[in-house]
Amino acid sequence: MNRRRFLQISGFSLAASSALWSCQTSSRRRSTSDGSPIAKYQRERDQSLRIACIGVGGRGLESLNELLAECDAGPQPQFVEISALCDVDLGMLDAAAIHIPNAKRYRDFRLLYRDIQSGAIEIDAILISTPDHTHAFATAMALACGLPVYCEKPLTHTVAEARTIAAMARSAKVPTQMGTQIHAGNNYRTVVELIRAGAIGEVSFADCWDNRSWCCGQLTPGALVPKTLDWDLWQGPTLPSAYIKDVAPANWRRYWKYGSGTLGDMACHILDLPYWALGLGEQNGLRAEIRADGPAVDSVGCPASLEVSWAITWSSRPAGKDPLILRWFDGGKVSPTVQELSAKDRQNYGRFNTLFQGSKGFLLSNYDEHLILPGALATTVIAPVPTLTRPAGHHREWINAVREWTMDSPTNSAMTGSNFQYASRLTELVLSGAVAYRTQTPITYDFDSGVIGAADAKRAAKLLTEPCRDGWTLDQNPLFF
Ligand SMILES: NC(=O)c1ccc[n+]([C@@H]2O[C@H](COP(=O)([O-])OP(=O)(O)OC[C@H]3O[C@@H](n4cnc5c(N)ncnc54)[C@H](O)[C@@H]3O)[C@@H](O)[C@H]2O)c1
Repeated sequence: MNRRRFLQISGFSLAASSALWSCQTSSRRRSTSDGSPIAKYQRERDQSLRIACIGVGGRGLESLNELLAECDAGPQPQFVEISALCDVDLGMLDAAAIHIPNAKRYRDFRLLYRDIQSGAIEIDAILISTPDHTHAFATAMALACGLPVYCEKPLTHTVAEARTIAAMARSAKVPTQMGTQIHAGNNYRTVVELIRAGAIGEVSFADCWDNRSWCCGQLTPGALVPKTLDWDLWQGPTLPSAYIKDVAPANWRRYWKYGSGTLGDMACHILDLPYWALGLGEQNGLRAEIRADGPAVDSVGCPASLEVSWAITWSSRPAGKDPLILRWFDGGKVSPTVQELSAKDRQNYGRFNTLFQGSKGFLLSNYDEHLILPGALATTVIAPVPTLTRPAGHHREWINAVREWTMDSPTNSAMTGSNFQYASRLTELVLSGAVAYRTQTPITYDFDSGVIGAADAKRAAKLLTEPCRDGWTLDQNPLFF
């Protein structure tokens, strides 16, 4: 596929009354052409990147809006046009198309990829915001087409899919980004710098929590499929079953078949901070012993609350040293360390969602702010020299990488923070917690080999995947659906 594209003004137009859909206009884009080599380079740089969006309701619309706003910001805006919209729900598709009337519309992403392959439509990059159970398949087809992808978190619905997508992305070498937009924010970067600079000493524990409770999904025999929804397409790779009342939008998170409860919904955002700060994405020989505690396991619905602990070791960790302990709490469960801290100084630390415990003290953080305890330690901590870049947004970081890549410059596909090598292991970490809970016994998981150990290893290994319907497989070239 030729990565140098020629200007094609199509697809995107502004809804004049809507600040939401702000974007650069094509006249600004064209103003630099004069035929000289520099101008030619400039002209190529200024060509709009043509984006196809798969899943344009809920987060899809938000993500699209963030992408456009970030591309529009700063002294050197990036020019993008939304050339295709795809959604299995006509209501969602029509609502998005009000803002982007010239984009080509699809209901089945396989037909979008067929058009891309045949040259019927030219697309430079794909933005995916479908429910979790279709992430891997929509992503795999983009990678098979050699296209950059931004896919929402968690990167995939199963541990096995995460490993497959990581391998595909490694060979595709295209810019990728998982939709953990807080990763690009200033606070996460400052916390990573503080932890790595030893501000609270050596970290032995990290606790993360979220009070949501995406739980208790139940089947609803006889429910009628909403008129605008193509239920068969919505189910994607999963084994076909009867429609579940109100499963879409959003409530699919309550069902193992489509989501992974609160853990699957939130942990990629929140565990990202310790995973990053403690360098877990970079370690060789990473291994975890995983235990989970919650209500009795239901085969259909996710639990109302969950506690997971990962006791983590890696090759370069000195022998005999205790494992690093990472813990997750949701549905009202609270970290006992946070409870103790709150009781001691009568503070409510509920506004945070992460606690690092180090040899010198504690660091509490949420998406936007952090606090070092005790106060006496905080006063001695000097702001570390910034070692991490501060991107102008998560989408923008990806779009910048896509721009460099389309210019055939030697861009490293790892130049985005949540690239799929980083994000696939984070996703494996998160989803391994759900596997431990559903296995109902402690498990061990080897992140290098993907091998799982448990008292009932066969049952545990089965939970690393989901059965797929005929014709949907990531094992062969996914374009041959
Ligand atoms: N990064 C964030 O802050 C953030 C926030 C919310 C949701 N999310 C993630 O975004 C994704 C979507 O979540 P949501 O809350 O918007 O869900 P949703 O159910 O509200 O919306 C999903 C949209 O995708 C469409 N869709 C479903 N299957 C499709 C398919 N096969 N092809 C094309 N379109 C399809 C649906 O019709 C709907 O419009 C999830 O993975 C979720 O984890 C991320």
